[in-house]
Amino acid sequence: MAQEFAPEDSNSEGQTAFLLMTMRVSLRRPARRAVPARQHSGRGADLRAHAQPPAPGSGPDELRARRGINAHGFEIAGFRNGWAGVLAGDFFELTHDNTSGILHRGGTILGTSRTNPYAQDGGGERARATLSKAGIDAVVAVGGEDTLGVAHRLSADGIDVVGVPKTIDNDLGRTDFTFGFNTAVQIASDAIDRLHTTAESHNRVIVVEVMGRSAGWIATYSGMAGGADAILVPERPFDLDEVCARIRRRHATGRLFSIIVVAEGAQPVGGIEDGPAETDAFGHPRLGGIAVTLEKEIEARTGYETRMTILGHVQRGGTPTAYDRVLATRFGVAAIDAVAAGHFGNMVALHAADIVEVPLEDALAEPKLLDPELYQTAEVFFG
Ligand code: F6P
Repeated sequence: MAQEFAPEDSNSEGQTAFLLMTMRVSLRRPARRAVPARQHSGRGADLRAHAQPPAPGSGPDELRARRGINAHGFEIAGFRNGWAGVLAGDFFELTHDNTSGILHRGGTILGTSRTNPYAQDGGGERARATLSKAGIDAVVAVGGEDTLGVAHRLSADGIDVVGVPKTIDNDLGRTDFTFGFNTAVQIASDAIDRLHTTAESHNRVIVVEVMGRSAGWIATYSGMAGGADAILVPERPFDLDEVCARIRRRHATGRLFSIIVVAEGAQPVGGIEDGPAETDAFGHPRLGGIAVTLEKEIEARTGYETRMTILGHVQRGGTPTAYDRVLATRFGVAAIDAVAAGHFGNMVALHAADIVEVPLEDALAEPKLLDPELYQTAEVFFG
């Protein structure tokens, strides 16, 4: 019931980060006092919890009633800062008013964190206890392998969960795309286009580092779109001598500049001798910086002036692409419908043009690494 929710943070709009990030929406069964769905005005909402298209013959009234955040008549709570909010019981009611007008905005009005309840003593139990105390009937978890990994464990522990695949890395299994990926690719491609200007004007080699963790999806898509002369990805350890030979070949044919796109997780054959990396609560090392080494090494080995740019969190910022908005909307509707249908332990997914449900277990079985065929296509255009 609405009065049980903590008061909404009036600054939550101002705190919105960029690109739709981890958020958890928990659903409560319709309370008798809840406003019936048909009284809602039909505007957009976080997770776009719209209903199925109206049946043929539905009048405009019915059509309006079926749209909006609460077509199934749930009460919806948004937990602040991902699993941290679940552990702390920090949530507020998501309503039409506080979720309309956010479709075009990146980030999340809920906030996010890299909190892993299962990395804390008794964290899993605490999360379950909070959900139970708050009267939450089902959890919709929105995020990548870490967020959904926790959701999967909660599901095994008896919590009703539906997952929504959201990560710029596009590395979740059993879905063609995650939302956020397309936006990151667009940003990286735009950046490569801009860097081309300097590369060409100054006859330089430009190394552009993009994110993606252990998958080369962002690097390959943005590199292909931006006409990169080499794309270095984690799935294919690179030979720097070979990369330099390519650059020299280009120079020999009069093309005096080159663009090298490198994924943050790419490594040379034989790896890099590094000290122990700092890791997050999920055990992931903090990546970033391979472009610094490449800049030095390429310049030293080829003699060509080389500069690097690390795009970093720029890729997670700003306005989501239309593609991502539509995908997130479709995922959101499908997730709420899955809850209404009692299909738990699943993740909504994109298969070709269709939104389907797949077991969370399958989606998380292993990271979805780069399709070798896609990389071979990109390679055709390397210098
Ligand atoms: O998983 C998304 C991602 O952007 C990765 O591509 C990147 O390695 C990581 O998150 C960066 O994490 P943080 O924002 O915590 O530095």
